[in-house]
Amino acid sequence: MRKKLVAANWKMHKITAEARSFLETLKLELGEETDVEVLLAPPFTLLPLCSQMVGESAAIKLGAQNMHPAKAGAFTGEISAQMLRDLFVRYVIVGHSERRAIFGESDQFVGEKVRAAHEASLRPILCVGETLAHREGSQHESVIDRQLTAGLEGVDAKHIPDTVVAYEPVWAIGTGHNATPAQAQEMHAHIRAVITRLYDAAHADRVRIQYGGSVKPENAEELMRQPDIDGALVGGASLEARSFAAIIAAAREARG
Ligand code: 13P
Repeated sequence: MRKKLVAANWKMHKITAEARSFLETLKLELGEETDVEVLLAPPFTLLPLCSQMVGESAAIKLGAQNMHPAKAGAFTGEISAQMLRDLFVRYVIVGHSERRAIFGESDQFVGEKVRAAHEASLRPILCVGETLAHREGSQHESVIDRQLTAGLEGVDAKHIPDTVVAYEPVWAIGTGHNATPAQAQEMHAHIRAVITRLYDAAHADRVRIQYGGSVKPENAEELMRQPDIDGALVGGASLEARSFAAIIAAAREARG
């Protein structure tokens, strides 16, 4: 059985004092329970503090929101996998739709990041998602197929169980309009079918597929009850510790 993975993507939010008070509250809310995997992806500037505050705790792991695929070099403003590992970061979000749309990241560049993450023993969270225009034009599946195929290009089968996919329909991000559980399940099953085609069913069965896009305490449980929804990648509702803790509690309930 796949362990649910609930992740907070803080995007470009929070400074030191805010992160500290968030973590103090979250740690109290969660205790040492580890039946759901919990991940915090703060901005780079807060990784050292968060790393120090979660310490050896098995209950909260750290992720980064982005990285550059090169090991080192003249890439002003960028962060490498090794730098993330140095701060005990375990996961890295790659190919978020904001990176693709605002910063022009191509499917191929995202694929380079996935490979570089695995090489450095970081687990990539490969984000895929269609726009409203794609969905209205019935292109949603073909867009996801393209993003997945390029994102997983050259990834050895042995790394597939350590790869997470996040399905984040662009029209659901920050809009308050989440995909319905049925819409999300349909796409998650499709994503697993694509991974089966690229690898095989045994590997595809081990990949966790998170849903992201207006996840809130009120809709989280029903979404995560769907058979192919293995967790959530949460933006806005992850900025407040109690609301994020309520989503983690929903993931526990959804395990059935
Ligand atoms: P919201 O939860 O704010 O819709 O953001 C989702 C997201 O982009 C997480 O990566």
